[in-house]
Amino acid sequence: MIHHAIAIDGPGGAGKSTIAKALAKQLSFIYIDTGAMYRSIGLFAARNRVNGKDTAGVAALLPYITLEIRFLDGAQHMFLNGEDVSEAIRTEQASIYASDVSAIPAVRAFLLERQRDFARDNDVIMDGRDIGTVVLPDADLKIFLTASSEARARRRFLEQQAKGLDVSYEEVLEGLRRRDLQDSSRSAAPLKAAEDAVIVDTTECDLEASIALVRKLVKERLHV
Ligand code: DC
Repeated sequence: MIHHAIAIDGPGGAGKSTIAKALAKQLSFIYIDTGAMYRSIGLFAARNRVNGKDTAGVAALLPYITLEIRFLDGAQHMFLNGEDVSEAIRTEQASIYASDVSAIPAVRAFLLERQRDFARDNDVIMDGRDIGTVVLPDADLKIFLTASSEARARRRFLEQQAKGLDVSYEEVLEGLRRRDLQDSSRSAAPLKAAEDAVIVDTTECDLEASIALVRKLVKERLHV
């Protein structure tokens, strides 16, 4: 059976995961958050006091990492060596570690096969940085979701505030900009739009309008 695949790439805070989750529900596709996988490896490095930029050190940890995605009440939960780390990977420190370890080729190779396996066995919407360019180059539809850094920082800031985290808007903006630069300037699978991706800028769109826009693209391209 041929499966459908939708790739959504873009910088942090552009709304990838929220939009992908909503669409996956509407289409009965499986949503795969690849950022959560990089975050889990980053968390494991942090817990083991290995610097996220230490290429050999992080690579040496990989044999000790088992990642599993389980769906609880329809939502993706990330399990790191049997522990549900879905919340723990959302901190600012985990974001920094995730960006650091994601520049390491051994880490990317470790995750690539796992990501492709999902797409082989399921209809998927997968979000990340290199889904359209590297992971699923034959995806039926590739979307590059973006927004101004200020708009993205504002959304992240509100999210974190709602969770009761004590961060300022300026800190969030600064962190996003630093990681965007790091993610798009690395040599291994940098953040960039695939040549055949549709660029969707959500700076001026609220969530509902963004979901409707992407839904329309899906209908036109996949006829579902
Ligand atoms: O989407 P996110 O913020 O949860 O991603 C965390 C980090 O992982 C981000 O800095 C970039 C990296 N990442 C990546 O390099 N490739 C992916 N496919 C997904 C995420």
